[in-house]
Amino acid sequence: MTIVLGIETSCDETGVGLVRDGVLLGDALASSMAEHARFGGVVPEIAARAHVQAMVPTVRAALENAGLGLGEVGAIAVTAGPGLATALHVGVAAAKAYALALDVPLYGVHHLAGHAAADTLEHGPLPDRSIGLIVSGGHTSLLFVRDLVRTPIVHLSDTFDDAAGEAFDKVARLLGLPYPGGPSIDRAAREGDPTAVRFPRPLTGPNDPPLGFSFSGLKTAVARYVEGVHDPAVTTQDIAASFQEAVADTLTRKALRACRDQVVDTLVIVGGVAANSRIRSLAQERCAAAGVELRIPPMRLCTDNGAMIAAIGDLLVRDGARPSPSDFSAIPTVELSSAQLS
Ligand code: KG4
Ligand code: ZN
Repeated sequence: MTIVLGIETSCDETGVGLVRDGVLLGDALASSMAEHARFGGVVPEIAARAHVQAMVPTVRAALENAGLGLGEVGAIAVTAGPGLATALHVGVAAAKAYALALDVPLYGVHHLAGHAAADTLEHGPLPDRSIGLIVSGGHTSLLFVRDLVRTPIVHLSDTFDDAAGEAFDKVARLLGLPYPGGPSIDRAAREGDPTAVRFPRPLTGPNDPPLGFSFSGLKTAVARYVEGVHDPAVTTQDIAASFQEAVADTLTRKALRACRDQVVDTLVIVGGVAANSRIRSLAQERCAAAGVELRIPPMRLCTDNGAMIAAIGDLLVRDGARPSPSDFSAIPTVELSSAQLS
């Protein structure tokens, strides 16, 4: 069985993972998050420079974590897109160098397919039909997934404006909570009352697209509330909890609607925002009520990491996929329709 080394550099995390036959053997992660904090968001040039610095040490750390030598790696998978162009180029260049040096095949893969594959490391192969809800800093999408590497992935819906993670990050800023906003709001919300403010549930009216998402109006509603005259007894924690409740309610409602529409009884929630504790608990509650099996990877596999890229690479290798051509390059903006990008 081939050992696949996966490399992820689409944003601010340099992730490396090693997977063989669906089993995670080891991984390592370096993050430049702290360097971006004072800018309130990821600065692409800083992220790219950090990837260059972290790449070789992170590969070494992952190999050490797995108890493996570089010579035992039989294939390389790398995120080819979507993501920040400068950051992606570093990963693709490094992956090509390793593939050339080791004389092993190379696979350029889709970041979101990697997020979906992360769950297979924890819960085993996906069933024949499932609905995927991808919620990250850059994406909010509902997908109809059959075989992750063999069947085209059907895109059911997207956000019309901000991604869910982007909304968490922007609302955290409005509330004066530290970057990254998702974990800050999650923490603050634990001390707050989710019913304190009834924020809108975007696109849930009878004439709205039933699977479509929109978060910029919700963000504006929070801004108006914060800036306006409001009950002084309502705390920042209450506002955080009420905002989080609106996002969790909207996401889970629409994800279950997609399961009903497609007559599917498995929902997989992946991406950084799937780490959110309220989204996890509300999804669990609603899936149980609807007779839908819920699969969410453990938190450390929800946010960007190298293991998920190794996982999708491993699925491709085992399926006999053709390696990517040696002249392939990163594609910063690309919809998810297949796991392999080139
Ligand atoms: O998937 P990811 O690590 O990177 C992208 O591909 O975007 O997702 C990062 C996003 C950020 O917006 C971050 O605020 C959000 O995931 N996030 C969370 C939580 N942890 C991370 N959002 C809500 N609750 C959390 N606990
Ligand atoms: Zn991601």
